[in-house]
Amino acid sequence: MAWRESAKERAAVEAVKLVKDGFVLGIGAGSTVAYALREIGRKIKEEYFHVSVVSASSQTSKLAREYGIPLTSLDEHLQLDLDIDGADQIDEKLNLIKGMGGALTREKIVASASKTFVVIGDESKLTDALGKNQPLPVEVLPFALPFVTSKIRKIGGQPVLKKSSLGSPFITDNGNYVLNVDFGVIKNPLRLDRKLKSLPGVVETGLFLGMADVAIVGTKTGIKVIRKKQ
Ligand code: A5P
Repeated sequence: MAWRESAKERAAVEAVKLVKDGFVLGIGAGSTVAYALREIGRKIKEEYFHVSVVSASSQTSKLAREYGIPLTSLDEHLQLDLDIDGADQIDEKLNLIKGMGGALTREKIVASASKTFVVIGDESKLTDALGKNQPLPVEVLPFALPFVTSKIRKIGGQPVLKKSSLGSPFITDNGNYVLNVDFGVIKNPLRLDRKLKSLPGVVETGLFLGMADVAIVGTKTGIKVIRKKQ
């Protein structure tokens, strides 16, 4: 699906148009966000643009440094002007599943700290039902892994421990594990989120509900902008 890369790039470049000089940005993680970082880096270099970024992952921080983008933290800025992040699924109400890259917890914190949250992706991320052909990432404390795994099975999920490219368990930037859980179609995302968050040892879920303000989605030929219904 070669069109997906240009669609992701189009969405990312369009999202960066919302960034104003002087903004403190949140930036998530993933391959779509990488295009946004490249565009921000270009603007800093060619347009003498001043922004700083609170990064949600070590991978994003590394890329930001490569593009000459100044990094800051929530210690310096409790509120961010704008967050740009990708997603694994986006439904009609702009509820999201995120975290297949394993950065869900910091991504949720950064999105919550931002005045506006713009989600970007290619059209394949749009869905009519969260969870359809898409597992839900859940970050888990290593100590609690067997306990949380068995509790998740009891509530109807099929958890699979996320592995690194070397085949060992994937470790998040917070030192935790990620379970990718197949729940099938998630009929009531809010209820499932509450259930999961009530399990001791669950750090965060990849359900981002009511958080995104706008989705910028790259299609095969252009861009689709979906705004949150008030
Ligand atoms: C990272 O943990 C994720 O939440 C990503 O934002 C999500 O997986 C989207 O990634 P891509 O832009 O690479 O599809």
